[in-house]
Amino acid sequence: MREVRRLLPPLDIISAPTSMQRLKDRGFSRAMERVLGMDPRDIIAEVKASGIKGRGGAAFPTGFKWESVYEAPGGNRYVVMNADESELGTFKDRALLEYDPLGPLVGMLIAAHAVGAKKAYCYIRGEYRPIERQMVNALQTLADCGWVGPHAVEVEVRRGAGAYIAGEETALLNSIEGKRAEPRVKPPFPTSKGLWGDPTLIQNVETLANVTLLFAHDVEWFRQCGSPQTPGTKLVSLSGHVKNPGVYEVPFGFPMADIIADPELGGGITGSGRLRAILLGGAAGTFLSPDQISATVLDYGSLGTFDASIGSGAIMVFDDSVDLSWVLRKLAHFFADESCGQCVPCRIGTRRIVEMLAQGGLYSRVQDLRDLAQAMRDASICGLGQTAPTALLSILDRPNWQGA
Ligand SMILES: Cc1cc2nc3c(=O)[nH]c(=O)nc-3n(C[C@H](O)[C@H](O)[C@H](O)COP(=O)(O)O)c2cc1C
Ligand code: SF4
Repeated sequence: MREVRRLLPPLDIISAPTSMQRLKDRGFSRAMERVLGMDPRDIIAEVKASGIKGRGGAAFPTGFKWESVYEAPGGNRYVVMNADESELGTFKDRALLEYDPLGPLVGMLIAAHAVGAKKAYCYIRGEYRPIERQMVNALQTLADCGWVGPHAVEVEVRRGAGAYIAGEETALLNSIEGKRAEPRVKPPFPTSKGLWGDPTLIQNVETLANVTLLFAHDVEWFRQCGSPQTPGTKLVSLSGHVKNPGVYEVPFGFPMADIIADPELGGGITGSGRLRAILLGGAAGTFLSPDQISATVLDYGSLGTFDASIGSGAIMVFDDSVDLSWVLRKLAHFFADESCGQCVPCRIGTRRIVEMLAQGGLYSRVQDLRDLAQAMRDASICGLGQTAPTALLSILDRPNWQGA
């Protein structure tokens, strides 16, 4: 078996996912008890030493973010678990919250203790109703332990309403405050001015699950897996022309080609049986060709040589019957629909891309597309507009690539 199961529970575990027994079986109660006896500065130092990076897409070092919130001046502090998970082809947070919800929730409480927050929010994708129920049951177990409630950390579950942009951290904050889910201009960053102007820590579900594992063990254990630059494991959401689609946990540094081909992971290409490309990181991700896939491992440095990044860990596989221009047109429509419309480069730019692809095809106005992409990257307020042309550019940069 090439998959590692750290974040995902072992296959032979029989305790119910939200039960007190599961807390014990997985070492999560040990993690919480250890943290409650620690000074916040020591907790943050341990997170920094672990090398955990955010798993929501931007891979920002988690310990440094915690330190910023801890040191920021202000009265109240908040922690938010980002479970909006609307990136295309991404369904790994859902798997975590379904099979082991206590892991990320304990991570959220650890974070609250470290930064001095008395209130936390779980912002969950609106369509994830059964998962939300699972989360509420898990929170009740944590309340029974005395870790959630008025004398510990109060936790509120908030449901998203179906907008991709609501997963962007500042749009999410506006949504929690009862406003439209439109991104805020940064700086100031949420670490200094987040919910109601107070310092706020926002972390992805998978990031928080890693935190719990760290404190259930120690830094040395945590760093045993993965690469020196990026310790730990990554959940990948594998979909498309692959025999075994699903969520898999692999260590950083794992060969990309093996994720797709290994019989115990993706199991190989279906459809025509010949690989054309993968789209790595979701709608705002990068297309990689078979030769690039063979030459890289799942790590930021290795993927950076192809201007690619792991993003949320979505891997969409396309066989060679797929016309990538068609995929690009679909992506362009997605961004034009999901742009919140607040700033011109994104509101107009995403629509212009749709028109240009519809009118002349991909290679008819290459320079115009490049200029537009540059303007969107430079002048859009948030990551949606800045990264909307990324997949497109990854194909434009290789004009001889068959199928586009
Ligand atoms: C358009 C857009 C959508 C996003 N959606 C999500 C999401 O669904 N879940 C998530 O964790 N992060 C999402 N992010 C990233 C968040 O803004 C933020 O960086 C992340 O929640 C921070 O957590 P991390 O440091 O643990 O990765 C999105 C970003 C953008 C620009
Ligand atoms: S970049 Fe797009 S999604 Fe982001 S604020 Fe501007 S219009 Fe809205």
